[in-house]
Parts: sequence; C-alpha cells; structure tokens
Amino acid sequence: MRIILLGGPGVGKGTQAKKLAEKYKLAHISTGDILRQAVKDGTEMGLMAKSFMDKGQLVPDEVVIGIIKDTLAKPEIKAGGFILDGFPRTVPQAQALDELTHKMNIPVDIVVNIKASSDIIVQRLSGRRTCRGCQSVYHVLNLPPKKEGICDRCGGQLYQRDDDKEETIRNRIKVYEDQTSPLIEYYKKLGKLKDVSGEAEIDEVFAEICDLLSKL
Ligand code: AP5
Ligand code: MG
Repeated sequence: MRIILLGGPGVGKGTQAKKLAEKYKLAHISTGDILRQAVKDGTEMGLMAKSFMDKGQLVPDEVVIGIIKDTLAKPEIKAGGFILDGFPRTVPQAQALDELTHKMNIPVDIVVNIKASSDIIVQRLSGRRTCRGCQSVYHVLNLPPKKEGICDRCGGQLYQRDDDKEETIRNRIKVYEDQTSPLIEYYKKLGKLKDVSGEAEIDEVFAEICDLLSKL
C-alpha cells in the first residue's frame, strides 16, 4: 500500500502516519522528521533547511525532492509500501513524485486529505510535544504521555519544536494555503483524493482512514 497524507500543519498527519505504519507495517516517510534530523546532526543540508523551517517557510523543492529520491530508492521501501507525511507540498514536488513512482513502478494508491480549522491547528501545535528519539507526537492536554516529558514508546525525552510558536504557526498555515492547497485539485483530477475531517478524536480519524484503505 502506498499512501500520501495531505493537510496543513497540525492536522494530525504525523499522529495518523505512526498509527497506520504500525498497523499496516508500512514505512513512515516524513520529510519534516528527516529535515529535523539533519538539523540535529548539523549537516550542511540541515543548516540550510533550518533557516527556512524556523520562519515556517518551505525548504527549496530540489532539496526535498532529493531526499525523497534517496529514500524511495531503499529496497525495503519498494517491497513493503509507504506513507508519505509532509511530501509533496508543492505542484513541482507532486510532479517529481509522479515521475519517480512511475519509473519505479510503485504508484501511489490514495491521497488522504486531512482537514482542520486554523483555531484547532493553533491549539494543537502550541501544546504539542515530540520525542527526540522516535519522533512520536504527544499533546499536553489531548494526548499526554504517561510520565511527563518522557515518551511512552521509547523512553526518549519530549521537546517542543522550534516552529511551534504562534507567529510561525500562522505563517505555516498561510504557506500551506498558498503553496500546498493546490495539490487538492491536482490529486482530485487524478481520482486519488479522499477527504477526512481531522477535527474528530485521534481514534475516530484513524478508523475513518482505515475504512478508506479497506476499500482499496
Ligand atoms: P512538518 O514537520 O511536515 O510540519 P507540518 O506540515 O507543519 O505538520 P506538523 O508536523 O506540524 O503537523 P502534523 O499534521 O504532523 O500534526 P501532528 O500529528 O504532529 O514540516 C516542518 C517544516 O519542514 C516545514 O515548515 C518546512 O519548512 C519543512 N518541510 C517539511 N517537508 C517539506 C516539503 N515537502 N517541502 C518543503 N519543506 C518541507 O499533531 C499535532 C498535535 O495535535 C499533536 O500534539 C497531536 O498530539 C495533536 N493531535 C493530532 N491529532 C489530533 C486529534 N485528532 N485530536 C486532538 N489532538 C490531536
Ligand atoms: Mg508532522
């Protein structure tokens, strides 16, 4: 199974991707997580990406397309299926992905478009905590870890992302509307788009996505 999770910041892409990857044994490919790892490692790409990420802007297309090319080339990904979380985010990225998956004969089966209002997004992102170890996502109110500051899954330390400040969140929402939302039309035309409300509880959203996948 090959899935794209589309949607603005904070709609729950990472949360749902983790659950789907566990249930269906798929690779979870998050360009945001890969870029944050590069920032943490202090690589040249990481340093360059950080200047965009801290402002809530998109990292240049050629950089993220390069990341996806390298990741999809891994043999386990071709064999086992994947979930793309946070990629593509622009029309040129979607076109590059089409070309790549066509060449590799691994077409995307479904694009799940998760939607939530700006007010909900700001509430969610201001309370989000992420694991430094396995990138699992928590929320201080909606999904607290069993022990404060510690990841239930791997025991790693939880932290607040640098781009989860209100001003940066608002900019990320604007960037989504300007540059990423045209992908809704793009995938609708290809007959691959399915809408899901991301405003329900985590398990309800998950059940709705699983239901869509069961019909594939
Ligand atoms: P990225 O890491 O992809 O961030 P994003 O798209 O802004 O999305 P988030 O990760 O913030 O939200 P999410 O939808 O995953 O929500 P989550 O599940 O965490 O990208 C970061 C940056 O990297 C970009 O700004 C850009 O600079 C760069 N970048 C990445 N990919 C790129 C690309 N392709 N091209 C160019 N640049 C790129 O949930 C949020 C919170 O809500 C959590 O606390 C969670 O517990 C809670 N929650 C989730 N679902 C629910 C629910 N149903 N009910 C209640 N609470 C919920
Ligand atoms: Mg995420």
